[in-house]
Amino acid sequence: MPLEWRDQLSIGVPSIDADHKQLIAIINEFEAGSSAGAERLQSVARKLFQYAASHFEREERLQVLNGYGRHQAHQAEHNALLDSLEAFIQSHFIDRTKPIDTASAAEMAAFLKHWLVDHLIHSDLKMKGLVTER
Ligand SMILES: [Fe+2]
Repeated sequence: MPLEWRDQLSIGVPSIDADHKQLIAIINEFEAGSSAGAERLQSVARKLFQYAASHFEREERLQVLNGYGRHQAHQAEHNALLDSLEAFIQSHFIDRTKPIDTASAAEMAAFLKHWLVDHLIHSDLKMKGLVTER
């Protein structure tokens, strides 16, 4: 099932909410392409990595501008997320430790959904009311 944006996910900063919606769209694109073959999936996973890296920078910049107290812990979490996504791309598309079929692609999509949604709910929402557009 595709991820769906819900108003409860809003942190009240339009540019950050727009980025989060875009990340959800890329993960849904990955899931929708689960039978499109390894090359296609790898390119969507790389697109997700690029977009996440630039989004994390934007989010961290706003945290600094707002004097957000959890900035360092949040940045460490972003770095860990990028590391885990990189490891994911490496094992699934470079080392090819398992075959890429519809079932494994569905597992990958589940991993990516958790990867994003856990962070949105457990960390990003803590910024609500404390970080504003600057
Ligand atoms: Fe974040």
